[in-house]
Amino acid sequence: MIKTAVIPVAGFGTRMLPASKSTSKEMLPLADKPIIEYVIEECKQAGIEHVILVTNANKADIENYFDRNYELENQLESAGKFELLSTVRQPQNEEITISAVRQSEAKGLGHAILCAKNIIANQPFAVLLPDVIVQSKENSFSDNPMLELIEQFEVTRSSQILVEPVAENEVNKYGIVEMASSRLSINRSKPLSGIVEKPEQEEAPSNLAVVGRYVFASGIWKHLENTESGVGGEIQLTDAILTLMEEEAVYALPLDGVSKDCGCKLGYYKAFVEEILAREDDLSEQFQAFLESLSEKSEHQKSSDSHSIRLAG
Ligand code: G1P
Repeated sequence: MIKTAVIPVAGFGTRMLPASKSTSKEMLPLADKPIIEYVIEECKQAGIEHVILVTNANKADIENYFDRNYELENQLESAGKFELLSTVRQPQNEEITISAVRQSEAKGLGHAILCAKNIIANQPFAVLLPDVIVQSKENSFSDNPMLELIEQFEVTRSSQILVEPVAENEVNKYGIVEMASSRLSINRSKPLSGIVEKPEQEEAPSNLAVVGRYVFASGIWKHLENTESGVGGEIQLTDAILTLMEEEAVYALPLDGVSKDCGCKLGYYKAFVEEILAREDDLSEQFQAFLESLSEKSEHQKSSDSHSIRLAG
C-alpha cells in the first residue's frame, strides 16, 4: 500500500494576498482549523503514515502547527481548560509522521515534488495539492477519493490522477487530460492518452481537469529530473507525466464528489462558510440564523429602496 505522501506548500499564495503575505495560505482557517489540517486528515483516512511537506524558509508556521507548543499547553492545563488543550494537541498525533524538506528556489510544482526524492526513494507515493479540498459525495462509492486512487494503483500498478470536468472557459487554469477511451466509469480509473498544462480553450483535448490528487509509480523521478521549464517558466509536473506516459501507462479516475479551491478568494470564502454550516453544532446553528437574518435584511433593503425611489419621483 501507499504509505507516503508529498504535500507541496512552498508557493507564495499570491491569489490570497494580502492575507498570505506573512501567514502561509495553507494556514488560513476553514471554520476554526487551518486548511492544511483538512488535507492531513484526508491523508490519514487514506492510510498514509508519512507526510513530507515541501516548504520554504517563510513557511515555518505550518511546521510549528504540527509541533507541540509546551508553553501554551502548560498554561491551558494549569487553567483547567482541558477541552482547548485537546484541540491544540490534536494536530500532533502518533498516526502520522510529518517531515519537512525545503524547496530553496521557486521553480514550480514538478521541482517541488522532486525535492522529496531522497526521502521517498524507490517507493510509489501520493501527492496532494493543499489548495484543493476534496470530498466524496454522500452515498459515494468511496469515502475518500485519495484512498480510491491508492486502491486503483494497487490494481493497475500504474500512476493515477484524479480528474473532474470544469467549465470550457476555465480549462486554461488546470492540467487537462485526454482519455484513451471515450467512456469513463465512476469507480474505475482508465488510461490517459495525453495531458497538457493550462491549454487555451481551443487547444484543450477535453474539459477533464487534474484536481490535485495523484499517486505516482517511482518511474516519475527520472522524468521530473529531465523536465525543462514549461508554462509560466516553471518545471511542470504535468510535463513530467506526459513523458512518463511514453514509458508506462498513466490512469485517470473521475472524482465522485466535490473539490473546493481554497487557493483563490471566492473559492475560499465559499469553503469557509460551507465548513461552518457542515459542523452541525451550536455555533453552526447560530451562524445559519445570522445568514438568514442577513438575507432577510437584504430583502427588506430591496423593498425599502424601491419605496424611496418612488417617493423621490
Ligand atoms: C496545479 C497543477 C495543475 C492542476 C492544478 C489543480 O496548478 O499544475 O495541473 O490542475 O494544480 O489545482 P496550479 O493551480 O498550481 O497553477
